[in-house]
Amino acid sequence: MTLEQVRKEPSPYGIDFFIYGVSMCGIIGYVGQKNAPDVLLQGMRKLEYRGYDSAGMAVVGGRALSVMKDVGKVDEIHSRHDFLSLRANAGIAHTRWATHGGVTQANAHPHVSSDGAIAVVHNGIVENFRELRAFLQSQGFRFYSETDTETIPKLIEHGIRQGLGFVQATEDALRRIEGRYAVVAMNKDGTVIAARNGSPLVVGVGDGEYFAASDIPAFMDYTKRVVYLHDNDFVVVGRNGLIMNNLKTGPVERPIDTIEWDAQRAEKGDFQHYMLKEISEQAETLAKAVKQDEGTMKRLVDDIQNAKHVVLVAAGTAYHACISGRYVISRIAKKHVASVRASEFENILHMIDRDTLVLAVSQSGETADTLEAVKMAKTSGARVVSIVNVAGSTLHRESAYALLTNAGPEIGVASTKAYTAQLGVLTLLAYALQGNTEEGRRTLEVTRNQAYNLTAASMRANIRTLADVLKGKEHIFTLGRQLEYGTAKEAALKIKEVSYIHVEALQAGELKHGTIALIEKGTPCIAFFSEANRRETLSNAQEVRARGAYVIGVGAETDPVFDFFIKVPEVGLCNPILQIIPMQILAYQLAVLRGKDPDRPRNLAKSVTVK
Ligand code: G6P
Repeated sequence: MTLEQVRKEPSPYGIDFFIYGVSMCGIIGYVGQKNAPDVLLQGMRKLEYRGYDSAGMAVVGGRALSVMKDVGKVDEIHSRHDFLSLRANAGIAHTRWATHGGVTQANAHPHVSSDGAIAVVHNGIVENFRELRAFLQSQGFRFYSETDTETIPKLIEHGIRQGLGFVQATEDALRRIEGRYAVVAMNKDGTVIAARNGSPLVVGVGDGEYFAASDIPAFMDYTKRVVYLHDNDFVVVGRNGLIMNNLKTGPVERPIDTIEWDAQRAEKGDFQHYMLKEISEQAETLAKAVKQDEGTMKRLVDDIQNAKHVVLVAAGTAYHACISGRYVISRIAKKHVASVRASEFENILHMIDRDTLVLAVSQSGETADTLEAVKMAKTSGARVVSIVNVAGSTLHRESAYALLTNAGPEIGVASTKAYTAQLGVLTLLAYALQGNTEEGRRTLEVTRNQAYNLTAASMRANIRTLADVLKGKEHIFTLGRQLEYGTAKEAALKIKEVSYIHVEALQAGELKHGTIALIEKGTPCIAFFSEANRRETLSNAQEVRARGAYVIGVGAETDPVFDFFIKVPEVGLCNPILQIIPMQILAYQLAVLRGKDPDRPRNLAKSVTVK
């Protein structure tokens, strides 16, 4: 689709029919000597994990701006329209994950000004878009999409009509926007502006070339030098190179960091999917996770010991790491430790005060629910520390300090290696609280070696036999006690996310209080057990077996109660790290056997940056 088509296409939506067009996505911009469409197409593929229902690109060549966008995955769109038929040295691109606005070509980004001179890609929410849209309509602007984003290029255009230059007009437009955003805007003279407030955006600095993207893998093939933007930063890339301002404080200088990940780590290599590659990396990522700075670990131990209450907060998979983390920390530190889902944090706010330590756990460091919880906690006077994978992320910066999980880029939407890295850090913390950091390191080293065995081809073949039995099932139940309850929850989530089979996790003892009514002949039940709770969990396994369930055991020693057994060595507090690995493989294989794409499960996004 050309720009002309974008402009002349009549709006399919009546003035009164306007859906809240929030988008949550991957964005990238490029200015330099390379052919921009090549760089942007690669970047879109790398960012597709952030959203994959539509995508688009705008580039500037010969002072003309062209736009190509459509619904579907990046390569499907590319095969229909050929992004590489465009030639340019500057451009912006977007991969979209719609939350409210429909998945349509008109709603796909970039969005353009009415005169076609300005294009914008956006990640976030323009909360006051209704007012802005009404204002712009009163000024004669027409809208062609359901999105909030379309107000941005039109606001910029409005400023230009008032006599402002592109940079000043963009600055003014962003000042009028309420809500979280990461924006990359481009003028037809090839000037590109990158700005953020609450949504992720990093700038890559190459040799005479610049990148701006939601996440580093989008440009890490070209440069390892990055600038992490802060909220309200406003960066202009034009003829004079890079100019940095902050909308609140004026001119700023931000350090250029060199990232340590190599490009290969974000590639699939010989693996068919990122998910399998990331599952297989866990022996290595665990080793990195437990290399924590002694001083920072000691600081956290002191903060936990000095706090009256400790609250672990996270979303999704990271929350499941907190279920096990809560247990090990409270048992060892002998103090009440709560864990709360980030989206529910507001409901316990009355208990949060200056004596509370909030420990936020996140892979991306950009999950809106978690960031919101952290903001509320800080407002209530609590101290916030985080365990986070992405250095320089918003959560990292919002925390008093952080322990980095060091798992490297995780591209598969379903979190695997980041989860075991979070568990590794939490377990090391538990040992440090006991004053036994060295013992913790040794146990984690044994665990890491076992993780290597559990990701081997022989385990994959064994799990494949099980996947064949389960692939046609509609429901699966997972059971565990104590630490193993966290594993039961995460195993259920993993299988649901990528295979779309319904899985329900239960504390093993709770089964008999209702859910056992659902067990019938052949219903699969997966029971996780450790030495500490073997007897009790096996007796729950016996209860379902007696009702005809197909019982799968995950633990160190088998038992006649199991129809299928997955042997995982006993490693005490580290059990959750090992027991989840065969379940990640099972989830992956179920997805593949059922013909689903495990890297891009339907309706999901890697990092949910909207509430
Ligand atoms: C999304 C992802 C999950 C992830 C959760 C928390 O829902 O689909 O896989 O666990 O966000 O993400 P975070 O980056 O904060 O760990």
